[in-house]
Amino acid sequence: MASAFGAELFRANTETVLGRLESHLSDSSIRGLDLIDPETLTQAARALMAAERDEIAPFDEKRLDGIVDLYVRTGIQVHSPGYMGRQFSGVVPLGGVVDFVSSVVNQPSSFYEAGQLPSVAERIMAEELNRFIGWEPGSFAMVTTSGGSLANLTALLAARNKAFPDFWSSGSPGADGAPRPAVAVGADVHYSVSRAAGILGIGESQIVRLPLDREQRICPERARGALEAAERQGLKVFALVASAGTTSVGAFDPLDELGDLARELGIWLHVDGAHGAGLLVSDKLRHKLRGIEKADSLAWDAHKMMFVPAPCTLLFYRNKEDSDGAFQQHASYVFDEEPDRYTELDSGGRNFECTKRPMIMPLWTLWSVYGRALFAEKIEYLCELTEEIHGILLEEPDFETVHRPEANILCFRHRPADLSDEHVHRLQVAIRNRIKIQGNFFISKVNVDGVAALRVVMMNHRITAENFRMLLGEIRRVAAELSAAAR
Ligand SMILES: Cc1ncc(COP(=O)(O)O)c(C=O)c1O
Repeated sequence: MASAFGAELFRANTETVLGRLESHLSDSSIRGLDLIDPETLTQAARALMAAERDEIAPFDEKRLDGIVDLYVRTGIQVHSPGYMGRQFSGVVPLGGVVDFVSSVVNQPSSFYEAGQLPSVAERIMAEELNRFIGWEPGSFAMVTTSGGSLANLTALLAARNKAFPDFWSSGSPGADGAPRPAVAVGADVHYSVSRAAGILGIGESQIVRLPLDREQRICPERARGALEAAERQGLKVFALVASAGTTSVGAFDPLDELGDLARELGIWLHVDGAHGAGLLVSDKLRHKLRGIEKADSLAWDAHKMMFVPAPCTLLFYRNKEDSDGAFQQHASYVFDEEPDRYTELDSGGRNFECTKRPMIMPLWTLWSVYGRALFAEKIEYLCELTEEIHGILLEEPDFETVHRPEANILCFRHRPADLSDEHVHRLQVAIRNRIKIQGNFFISKVNVDGVAALRVVMMNHRITAENFRMLLGEIRRVAAELSAAAR
């Protein structure tokens, strides 16, 4: 029997998987979720397991095929034009191929000695992408982290430690009447930011929620008032978090004005660009992030608008030294006492992970093989498409748009003529749930100004305006079914 650790079965195993993946990728049918009852799926998964025995089970290619088939069929179908519901991308397949290499060679990338090429690729990608941010070469820093949530947490930690240098060693100040640490966020900030605040020991009452304008963006004039009021209440706001692409509607906060305000008040500006920072690589769309160079830190999810496998997040700092501030620890087993030209590229002291996936490799490979235009063209197509479907909705009397799209996220409501205001919320929730179960499309929902709206994220490379028209037909059909059932 060939050893599970050996190379003998590798080609056969890979061919089995390749066949499945190739047909998965070539399937352009419109589908949402094939939502299976968890008990049924558990049974199907159990049926694929070799019977319990004391010795290693003989390898069974059919079992592998069954596992891959089940894996590929269930869950979100990011390559189908029916996928419109979330922000993770339909990936460029080559990105997945490189991720597969990462899985086989297993070179974690927090330390240069373990992942040499990933460490160098991180440095190269930082320089490449900084061309669109605009910081002085050599003066900034970038680390990769496992997701935007972790990047937001890490940046806030660095900001907190800078404003409160004793916090790491002595804990929270404020007990003796000293100002209490606080963060300011847009009222529609991603939940990972307030979660990060909680982890940092910043209570809900220390989160200053900045008012938004009609387009759901932080309003800089009103932000100043809110920050001054917070100071009068004994809070020291050490970070202001602005969003470049909010999760609910894809709104871009005015970074230029907020950058000036933050600098004037001595506050760290963190930009959560998890969704929208990708727009920086497009000459046509970069202006949405005007003022980004004033940010102290920027979180950028490449697994969203850069079409690579999740997770792959880049956390940038304007000042190189700030990136050392998040974690103030010593550990003799990994952090070298005598740094040299190799350990200079270690990121272990600056990111939370000890073992870190070499997540930069798919991004760097795609960038190297195809260049920036691959990303810019796709992002522009998706944003233009979203503008187009917004136009389609304006022509449909039984639909209402909630905002004008700034990127590739659009929220809207279905309002049949006979629907009273009090039932609008309930109907959107019911439509979303039924569409999820029926499985032809996958969309999400979000509350905008307290009322549910249907939400689409144009993230799939195959999707067209025609697919969106089909979705509208599906929504009408589902609404009619719901209304008939209620009678
Ligand atoms: C604006 C924003 N910030 C942060 C996050 C969290 O990123 P991740 O899912 O990579 O942890 C998201 C996720 O959707 C997001 O939209």
